[in-house]
Amino acid sequence: MEALRQELDDLKASALDQIDQSADPAQLEQARVQYLGRKARLTAILRQLVALPPQERPVIGLLANQVKQAIEERIAARRTALESVPSDEVLATDRIDVTLPGRWPTVGRLHPLTQIIREICRIFAEMGFAVIEGPEVEWDYYNFEALNIPEDHPAREMWDTFWIDPTSAQVDKPMLLRTHTSPMQIRIMEQTKPPIRVVVPGKCYRYEAVDASHESQFHQIEGLAVDEGITFADLKGTLYAFVRRLFGDERKIRFRCDYFPFVEPGVDMSIDCFRCKGAGCRLCKMSGWLEILGAGMVHPNVLARVGYDPARYTGFAFGMGPARVAMLKYGIEDIRLFHDNDLRFLQQFP
Ligand code: PHE
Repeated sequence: MEALRQELDDLKASALDQIDQSADPAQLEQARVQYLGRKARLTAILRQLVALPPQERPVIGLLANQVKQAIEERIAARRTALESVPSDEVLATDRIDVTLPGRWPTVGRLHPLTQIIREICRIFAEMGFAVIEGPEVEWDYYNFEALNIPEDHPAREMWDTFWIDPTSAQVDKPMLLRTHTSPMQIRIMEQTKPPIRVVVPGKCYRYEAVDASHESQFHQIEGLAVDEGITFADLKGTLYAFVRRLFGDERKIRFRCDYFPFVEPGVDMSIDCFRCKGAGCRLCKMSGWLEILGAGMVHPNVLARVGYDPARYTGFAFGMGPARVAMLKYGIEDIRLFHDNDLRFLQQFP
């Protein structure tokens, strides 16, 4: 019995030693087979316990099982340790090159129209104009009537209108998709008192044949300033400052008479062509001038309509198409490009 006990002790010592020495999972498996496998000495001892004298059996049985358990536990611990250590092969090939440049995530960007609208509004905001928005579905009253364009007025021809079906909209007054941002002039004047300085960016709609310079949905930016003593010189100075911020310091501007029922006098404004400096080129169609907006002094009828005394208050208003401004600024020749969603186009406006 003493000899068997000694043998088990030796077995345990050499097994644990060999397990600890094993350098990789294959060597560890070899040790397992050698000490716990079918042909292992320990297995034989356990199997032959019945052959031992009855008084030796429990002592040896207990000891042999303890040895077996100790070996199993040591194997499990060693396996975990070996698995957490990368092999030489992995260490040799799996290098991190910290000098490699990183991969850029793909980032989105603002649409060129959004960029130009923000740029224009920022310029006016810095001059003290508030930026506000208004409804795209509008009453006839604000889009036309209150802007000095009565129902039978031929000037309505200037704006081909999408009308809202009054039955399906369940309204008893005519409703439309706004054809310009000018109705916001009325809404703002109705709700506040002078002094007023606002710009209004927003979408407008016209029943239009779509071509390289017209779309049925487009943006406008309206401007309105009303106070005592506002003159055409204020309109001119404000638009001068704006144009020079957006198109460069030497820009000249030119006003020509134009007709809009809600302003008097009414003008259209051009800038000298920044491409050819007025000499004449393809961009300005050889004229030297680029038309960028309509403007004028708020008509007394419009002021009176919102309850302002036209003898006391005067104001100026202007309206521009940011798509046209962007087309001129970036040399874009077809307005439809803005909504084609072609990345080759959009990516040019980082
Ligand atoms: N609302 C006019 C248009 O769409 C532009 C404009 C605005 C003209 C303000 C004068 C003053 O054509």
